[in-house]
Amino acid sequence: MNTAPKRYLITSALPYANGLKHIGHLAGAYIPADIYARYLRSQKRDVVFVCGSDEHGTAIPIQAMKEGRTAQAIIDKYHQAMKEDFADLKISFDVYHRTSDPLHHETSSEFFTYLHERGELETKETEQFFDESSQTFLADRFIKGTCPHCKSDRAFGDQCESCGTTLSPDELLHPVSTISGNAPVKKKTTHWYLPLAKHEAFLKEWIIEEHGKDWRPSVVGQCKSWIDGGLQSRAVTRDLNWGVKVPLTEAAGKVLYVWFDAPIGYISATKQWALDNNKDWKPYWYNNDTQLVHFIGKDNIVFHCIIFPVMLKLHGNILPTNVPANEFLNLEGDKMSTSRNWKLDMRDYIVDFVKKENGGDQCVDMLRYYLTQIAPESKDSEFTWKGFQDAVNSELVSIFGNYVNRTFVLMHKLCNGKVPQFHSHLADEKDKQIEQDIQEAKQKVEFALEHYKFREGLFDVMDLARKGNKYMQEKEPWIVAKQLGNHPEKQALIDNCLFNCLQLTANLAILIQPYLPATAKKICHMMKVVDKILDWENAGSMKLLSVGYTLREPQLLFRKIEDEEIAMQLEKLKNGVMAEASNTELAKEEKEKLPLKPEIQFDDFGKIDLRTGTITAAQRVPKADKLLQLEVDLGFEKRIILSGIAMHFQPEEIIGKQVVVVANLSPRKMRGIDSNGMILMAEDEHGKLHFVQPENTISGGAKVS
Ligand code: MF3
Ligand code: ZN
Repeated sequence: MNTAPKRYLITSALPYANGLKHIGHLAGAYIPADIYARYLRSQKRDVVFVCGSDEHGTAIPIQAMKEGRTAQAIIDKYHQAMKEDFADLKISFDVYHRTSDPLHHETSSEFFTYLHERGELETKETEQFFDESSQTFLADRFIKGTCPHCKSDRAFGDQCESCGTTLSPDELLHPVSTISGNAPVKKKTTHWYLPLAKHEAFLKEWIIEEHGKDWRPSVVGQCKSWIDGGLQSRAVTRDLNWGVKVPLTEAAGKVLYVWFDAPIGYISATKQWALDNNKDWKPYWYNNDTQLVHFIGKDNIVFHCIIFPVMLKLHGNILPTNVPANEFLNLEGDKMSTSRNWKLDMRDYIVDFVKKENGGDQCVDMLRYYLTQIAPESKDSEFTWKGFQDAVNSELVSIFGNYVNRTFVLMHKLCNGKVPQFHSHLADEKDKQIEQDIQEAKQKVEFALEHYKFREGLFDVMDLARKGNKYMQEKEPWIVAKQLGNHPEKQALIDNCLFNCLQLTANLAILIQPYLPATAKKICHMMKVVDKILDWENAGSMKLLSVGYTLREPQLLFRKIEDEEIAMQLEKLKNGVMAEASNTELAKEEKEKLPLKPEIQFDDFGKIDLRTGTITAAQRVPKADKLLQLEVDLGFEKRIILSGIAMHFQPEEIIGKQVVVVANLSPRKMRGIDSNGMILMAEDEHGKLHFVQPENTISGGAKVS
């Protein structure tokens, strides 16, 4: 693109709504995108930043099985949770959509139909794994086995969890169904495919010729090795009952493959944004003067650089200008992993820092700072709690915060709390240099941000703060105040230093704003200026604060992170792993027995009236070998209750037993007898029944809750 783009569409990978997201996700696809969006907005460019939950694919029903809930309950729960977490961490999406929304179903089925009608898709009949006990085809994560590459047994039909290799079900050694644990059989089925090989020339030209130099080397490298490995046709449909239905009558029981529909979610989200804001979404997806940028983690590269672009091209849309994919973030010396619970969820940080009394927005900015400083832009990097503490205490607090604070304190002390004048006749080399440093910082940060080098840009902002500290240290206005006695130019010298320090502070606010929005705002508050001053065009100016203007008292921008906090987090991390290991064991055992019923609300439980009672009589029910007819004394009345325990107990042996009764169950007639309630029994692993009863005998009719 030769001319400046007219509008920007920024996307962050749509996170799967199957669990909370960790700080690796945050550092990879959300913080950099947010910095970029905020930077462009501060330049008053036309930008839309979209994201939403990815709610399809086998990951969702699998999580539903794990939690004993419906797939719908799972996506509702995690969609809401992720949306909240992003908002808490100040990720400024213009829209956070979801792929279960009818607008998305519509958009993605139309997309499929468009390609299908133009003959761009192929159909093929193949044999695929099928689970006979549940009568389901085993797509993607419904089949697991041993990885042919690393031999880990945590490999699925789409990818190996251990080594990350993309897999197809047929490559798995010892495949078993995730649903039943049984060995699968093969069954014929027809699917629709995107013939990628047809588009090889286009991809080579577009990725290697056009973007080989301006995209990140790791991104171009991955694409190249995919293309060189031979482009296979990719199925875009699945035999599954969860997802966007394939809009063809002959495709009953089939849905679009999640990786076909999810990226179209970027389009649906843009449409939703347009609806909400009374705008036109089309230019963002059809006009060449739009700059489309996808922020993702490296595991998403092929989808965003090869498959989705082919889809976009066939559908007549624009292609991404850049796909700044990040590498992975490790945690305390090990890969982050959800299954081993070696991770720090965004929510963990929010609860332990942001929502604490001494937390708030400063803690949001602390995390944004550290995650940008260690952003895995060109290679994997590592989050350590010590590193976090150092970044906060020795950089944010000691350099940035300290500089701003000293500037304000000195201005109040030495300049009567008013912005002093600058006396040009006294300007020396240092004054000229600091002014130049400010202008250069602007250029540098701008260059870094325009080239998706977020770490570098942040370093440049901090470097300006360092220079500010050095300038102040060299000028020593507090010494000037003491030592120059009645020198006629004494106040003018002090004024010059603090004038420059204040203008530099205002510049810091502008430059740090995309990275640390709350900090920028706080500085504006202290400067008693409206946020408008943060417009990027103001950066580089030495006239941001007017002479004679009174500023507020400073507040500390950042608190320190204490050693105890770090120790506690490390402890939690270790314990979390152990707890999770035992949880997984438990969950496994539990699942083998009985899945949990769907979640209920407290009110649902509150409707049940449980009371203690004593069995005062018991007899068999004619012609019903399972039933005993019991008379139960509830203290306030005696009830007849029929109970299916005749195979386990003799009537005479249970007289006098205390029981717990569901006392407000509507009466039910069995064998011509009204049963007025139910008694609670527990079933052990051998199927034997036991009475649920109070530990000690208590009076009848007592409430159980
Ligand atoms: N849900 C995918 C993941 O977490 C990302 C989807 S990105 C999209 O890896 F482009 F498909 F939306
Ligand atoms: Zn593997």
